[in-house]
Amino acid sequence: MKKQDILIIGSGVAGMTLAINLAELRPDLSITVLNKTKKGESNTSWAQGGVASVWNHEVDDFEKHIADTLDAGDGLCDPKIVDIVVTEGPTRVREMIEWGARFDKDLSGSAYDLGREGGHSENRILHFKDKTGWEIQRAILEKGSDYPNITVYENAFALDLITQHHLGMVVTKATPDITCYGAYVMEKENHADIEPYLAKVTILATGGAGQVYRNTTNPVVASGDGISMMYRAKGTVKDMEFVQFHPTSLFNPTGEKPDFLISEAVRGYGAILKTLDGKSFMEKYDERGSLAPRDIVARAIDREMKIHGWDYVYLDCRHLDADGFMRHFPTIYAKCKSLGIDPLTDYIPVTPACHYICGGILVDEYGQSSIQQLYACGEVTCTGLHGANRLASNSLLEGMVFGQRIAHHINGRIDDYKILDSIREWDAHGTTEPEEMVLITQSIKELKEIMSSYVGIVRTDVRLERALHRLTTLHEEVEQLYKTTTPSPQLGELRNLITIGYLITKSAAYRKESRGLHYNTDYPNKLPYLDHVFL
Ligand code: FAD
Ligand code: SIN
Repeated sequence: MKKQDILIIGSGVAGMTLAINLAELRPDLSITVLNKTKKGESNTSWAQGGVASVWNHEVDDFEKHIADTLDAGDGLCDPKIVDIVVTEGPTRVREMIEWGARFDKDLSGSAYDLGREGGHSENRILHFKDKTGWEIQRAILEKGSDYPNITVYENAFALDLITQHHLGMVVTKATPDITCYGAYVMEKENHADIEPYLAKVTILATGGAGQVYRNTTNPVVASGDGISMMYRAKGTVKDMEFVQFHPTSLFNPTGEKPDFLISEAVRGYGAILKTLDGKSFMEKYDERGSLAPRDIVARAIDREMKIHGWDYVYLDCRHLDADGFMRHFPTIYAKCKSLGIDPLTDYIPVTPACHYICGGILVDEYGQSSIQQLYACGEVTCTGLHGANRLASNSLLEGMVFGQRIAHHINGRIDDYKILDSIREWDAHGTTEPEEMVLITQSIKELKEIMSSYVGIVRTDVRLERALHRLTTLHEEVEQLYKTTTPSPQLGELRNLITIGYLITKSAAYRKESRGLHYNTDYPNKLPYLDHVFL
């Protein structure tokens, strides 16, 4: 058993921003930060485009960033949260710079080089070449190591939250004051070892869930663990039907996974989407052309691909300034070249891929979840910032803003909480049979097929019904396996991914309209009223 004041599950931009802020406020608190695998294996590390923040006040202002965010969110953003994130954002970005994160300057060297992405009415994206996330992740892990009261663990897989259920109480959704006392954690160097990590306050900062689809830009750690743990603990999750597909992942005939992203910043730099016969097509769908918000562009590409039976469309960068392209997008340039594509003379084949989950754990403006002493931060949450569709480069910003807010909120309350004296040990059951690995890998493949075929960019009632039916069978099989097998990281992830598939599909079936990222051809219009889906 391990005891600490604060247990943060996840060390991406959300988890580390929170840890650093709290360590700064409270050197007396012991803060544990968990990574499921190695430090730096996170969605944060893969972020390319950058951080959206109002920076050049001569042309930009908060009202414009707020309007763009609300417009992308298609009616379902919480205006109060949008206001908070946009207005507190620049201070958090400045803090990130003070912590050592580098952002590119323009050629004069005196001002930041502000990029543009879909749905933004001004250039406001601070970036570090096309690997902004890598730079932020590096800076926050380094900064975090300055604080002796922060301990970062690797290969520590949180399996389940500890609540009154583990004290022998029956806990249901209706139980008042469900309280979190920490989590059961599998120390992966030694699979059989599942330890309770007890804490006064626990924070889920476990990131996204892109691995539920066949094609995704998300790394393998993005298996929706936090959202699934929350749902199992009878907490509330919200608006899970809003899954963002990025319009332009690189079509890679080698089948390499995860799918490599061609940043929207490339379109912000002037690249144009084209059909395989070289015609620009986005104008047919939106007056903003290739830089329309993501839901519109991804759906347009999906439609062009389906009408013509294509596996991809083209991104044309050939007219762009060669030096500028290589300076801004060295990683993308190198990746394309490694596949024999020269972006400056060839078209880049691109196809949509699952990228971001807008729904997640319901939290308030201080990151408090529906469970006592449990907060959530970052992509795992549904704060109300993104609504029905996230505006590009708003999520790193959300992690920074909420990380700081949660730290301050915890600081005001932590002294009222106690660490539980003891808790029952994890109930180890069954044995891991090597041949059962095939059941796990096959079930993951089945799940990805179901979600990609029936719950993708375009949905119908019949497809959703079929998906729910298939997911129910898969769920029963995997629960049976879980009951008779010692948990492994793979089995834990499979179980979580099936829950995510269920939550997305169930929420999608509930929404009888098309809005933002959710498009159902049986209900092509928006309802005249606004509604959220809580599960
Ligand atoms: P993550 O960074 O994903 O961190 C999750 C952490 O949780 C990891 O440390 C992981 O080990 C840990 N974890 C997960 N499960 C468990 C478990 N069971 N037990 C223990 N630990 C666990 N957003 C932008 O704003 N701008 C961009 O330019 C941008 N580009 C992107 C490009 C790509 C290719 C991708 C995939 C995403 C991009 N995004 C971008 C989205 C953005 O990167 C993420 O939303 C954000 O980084 C999420 O941060 P996070 O801290 O919430 O989660
Ligand atoms: C990109 O660079 O296109 C990704 C930006 C984001 O997902 O916010």
